[in-house]
Amino acid sequence: MLRTLILAASRSEALERLVETAPLSRDVVRRFVAGTTPDDALRVTRRLVGEGLTVTLDHLGEDTTRPGQAEATKDAYLAILAALGTQGLTPAAEVSLKLSALGQRFDEKLAYEHARAICQAAGNAHTTVTLDMEDHTTTDSTLEILTKLRKDFPGTGAVVQAYLRRTEADCRELAHTGSRVRLCKGAYAEPESVAYQSKLDVDRSYVRCLNTLLAGNGYPMFATHDPRLIGIGEERARWYDRNQDSFEFQMLYGVRPDEQRRLARAGYTMRVYLPYGTEWYAYLVRRLAERPANLAFFLRALRSRG
Ligand code: FDA
Repeated sequence: MLRTLILAASRSEALERLVETAPLSRDVVRRFVAGTTPDDALRVTRRLVGEGLTVTLDHLGEDTTRPGQAEATKDAYLAILAALGTQGLTPAAEVSLKLSALGQRFDEKLAYEHARAICQAAGNAHTTVTLDMEDHTTTDSTLEILTKLRKDFPGTGAVVQAYLRRTEADCRELAHTGSRVRLCKGAYAEPESVAYQSKLDVDRSYVRCLNTLLAGNGYPMFATHDPRLIGIGEERARWYDRNQDSFEFQMLYGVRPDEQRRLARAGYTMRVYLPYGTEWYAYLVRRLAERPANLAFFLRALRSRG
């Protein structure tokens, strides 16, 4: 109930204006976001890579409604990819992309063309792109665009969400040689008709999908902070005789940093999802919905500065 309410807030423009203009402690945002500029993103990437972690950079923004905005997002990705390449941060750093930020909601062809340009720039910089997954109304369109992109850019990564009832079948389709697949629980408010509602059902689905991906020939990327699921991932990877370089773990910047370093020290590839940019509101609200303790932290900071 609280999660649904908080997620509804992520779509409220009035609340977005209120929060963005409140004299928020920079620390609240900085805990989960590298900063607002490309230089901030590059600086934090360099630090994380220096600590033995790998990175996927996300230029914040979603649900774009204007072609000009979509074009600006594409240009931002081209610029950061060029900088990552020239600063020697690839292939340790790749990028994650929301197709809705490239115009998917009003012109799928435009979003595809922009995504192609970004995949090309990633290839030139010797790295890859992963297509984030958004709410369930976009799943088919995103997977169709992924299939088209993979014809020329086979390293393009997919994301699947364990809370969706369809995802086990999607994992079977995607578990083929060369296929990079990020498995996450899912971060949007979804109806019962398409998504499991209880934590237990979502976790069970996650384990079924994890097994399907490990049993296949692709490259699974387990994106979770859940200690139980990470333990199951480690154990099942041994059971399926997977080398440590044939799969990876992923976590969000600012969440369980000690566990991120433990996994890297244990020899796993540990990739940190690192958002940057000025449009941090919806991203931050989804993080708050995941953990009420974060909400208390956020409200305390608002009150102390407000
Ligand atoms: P869960 O939320 O059940 O948390 C398990 C435990 O982890 C908690 O008990 C707590 O200890 C810790 N924890 C979790 N979240 C925390 C937080 N915010 N702060 C502090 N501790 C926390 N979703 C999506 O729909 N589409 C996408 O493309 C992506 N992409 C993506 C990439 C990467 C790299 C990650 C890690 C996650 C995503 N997600 C996502 C988000 C994902 O769907 C999910 O909402 C979050 O990862 C939280 O789920 P957990 O698996 O961590 O479990």
